Amino acid sequence: MDTGLRRLLRGRKPEIIYAPLRHVFNSGGKRMRAILVLLACDAVGGNSRKALPAAIAMECLHNFTLIHDDVMDEAPVRRGRQTVHSRWNEAVAVLAGDQLLALGFEALAGNGRTPPPSAVGIFTGAFSDVCDGQGFDLEFEGRGGVTMREYMRMIDLKTARVIAAAVELGGVYGGGSASEVRALRRYGHRLGLAFQIMDDLLDVVGTTKKFGKKIGGDIARGKKTYLLVKAMERSGAADRALLRGAGAGRIPGRTRLARVSAVYARSGAVDSARREILRLTAAAKRTLRGLPPNGGRRLLMEFADRLAGRSA
Ligand code: IPE
Ligand code: IPE
Ligand code: MG
Ligand code: MG
Ligand code: MG
Repeated sequence: MDTGLRRLLRGRKPEIIYAPLRHVFNSGGKRMRAILVLLACDAVGGNSRKALPAAIAMECLHNFTLIHDDVMDEAPVRRGRQTVHSRWNEAVAVLAGDQLLALGFEALAGNGRTPPPSAVGIFTGAFSDVCDGQGFDLEFEGRGGVTMREYMRMIDLKTARVIAAAVELGGVYGGGSASEVRALRRYGHRLGLAFQIMDDLLDVVGTTKKFGKKIGGDIARGKKTYLLVKAMERSGAADRALLRGAGAGRIPGRTRLARVSAVYARSGAVDSARREILRLTAAAKRTLRGLPPNGGRRLLMEFADRLAGRSA
């Protein structure tokens, strides 16, 4: 997997694009979308080596979104290292991200490769969805009154559909039946929703050392996270005003995280997030009943449990 990613960048110039891309791939990351492609391929009885181009393509798409996301979110750190725009600059981040996306298409369908008929459509669909989701994310930064329904639509688009596409591609490359591929996609979708809620939670309860990102970044930017939306639903006027003030930068950085996380805890938003993660994880695992009971299916089950308990 990592060899495939390195090969994609080997010997390429200009450095102004490829040095940042090497920085991104050398900084780790869970490689979750790539792993999901391979496990899903196994789960339908396919040979996961054949799905490697799709795994690499999904990791390119994902890392492209991260490079651009860090510009949008003005994030200084990712995976414990400087983000591309802060180490280089925004122009470099735009360009390096664009090229990475192109490399994703090349991995999938370049060099005369013939992917399964639906593969490019699934990949392009995920690309388009993540753009729309990031659009909602950005739009919501600047407005109040975002409902849980709106929040769920945003994370469906920006996160869950990319993860759903990864398992769907795995199923398609593995030659799964239409109903198996459908079950896999549903699994990925539910897992993806749980994954983003956990990411929102870790922005508050995580540690930079493990999470690799700046804690409290969502609060500072007025992001409409699961915790914020739930706490707004459940709090009285004073706490709602505090949350609005924190998002608008009216509370100094030193005390912001402590005060906002106290509201998240006492409103029950933290408990609600944890319950929702467990509920979605269980729902994801249930969809796997539609697959043959093999090692791949077992690993997908374990993968879901691992994500529900993650701290990084
Ligand atoms: C971060 O994804 C972006 C979200 C969708 C929350 P990951 O947490 O999978 O990022 P890496 O690749 O492991 O760093
Ligand atoms: C993740 O949103 C969505 C995408 C990267 C497409 P976040 O903005 O929460 O991701 P992190 O927390 O920066 O990784
Ligand atoms: Mg971000
Ligand atoms: Mg973001
Ligand atoms: Mg986040």
